[in-house]
Amino acid sequence: MNLSEPQDEDDLMCKKNTPWHEAQVFERGWYSHDSQRAAKRHNALVAELVGLTCAHLDLSRSSVLDVGAGGFSLLQRVKTRRGVAVDPLFFGELEKNYADAKIQRVFACAEELTSLFYFSEFDEVWLFDVVQHVIDPARAVHAASCLARRVRIFEWLHTGLHKLKAKFFTTRFMRWEKKVEATGRVNHLGFTGEYFFAVYER
Ligand SMILES: C[S@@+](CC[C@H](N)C(=O)[O-])C[C@H]1O[C@@H](n2cnc3c(N)ncnc32)[C@H](O)[C@@H]1O
Repeated sequence: MNLSEPQDEDDLMCKKNTPWHEAQVFERGWYSHDSQRAAKRHNALVAELVGLTCAHLDLSRSSVLDVGAGGFSLLQRVKTRRGVAVDPLFFGELEKNYADAKIQRVFACAEELTSLFYFSEFDEVWLFDVVQHVIDPARAVHAASCLARRVRIFEWLHTGLHKLKAKFFTTRFMRWEKKVEATGRVNHLGFTGEYFFAVYER
């Protein structure tokens, strides 16, 4: 599969040759032909932990922005009124699934979303396993909190590799009402880590 277009994704935010850029090259490989099975398994685990299956959630009248959506956003499995998938990476042939499901694709970073969308433009913003990957977690979370009244967070915290700790989320959203929270440990794709899941509303 061809994951090389649009070519300018590597220049996004002019972050070439930074640790973030290197990590993004790895992320892109994750969605390449060989890794798709693992990526799908990961996605299924996220769905399970978040409890976000079609059966559980009626978002048919809601607008949802999935930030750091990856190649297999849960938007592809949940009916929404409007679904927008944001990710700086281009996922080659997998992009067709977004087009087929009428999910709008935006190639951008979480940190810049307040300049692309209006305040409270969405009913929900999702941050699923993305905050530990962004350049500036605080800015990314702040942007999410501006764009919707409800923010759903799931993070499979890859402790040892990333610095982010679950505590980060509880301090960032202190002024928000927390609807649900769950934490625990998970063995997943050969790694052990913690997970954190919460739904916040303002
Ligand atoms: C582990 S994947 C998670 C994908 C998807 N949310 C899921 O749960 O399957 C992390 C994603 O974050 C994206 N990402 C990295 N830095 C980002 C940033 N600054 N803004 C938005 N997304 C970013 C990567 O391109 C990658 O697709």
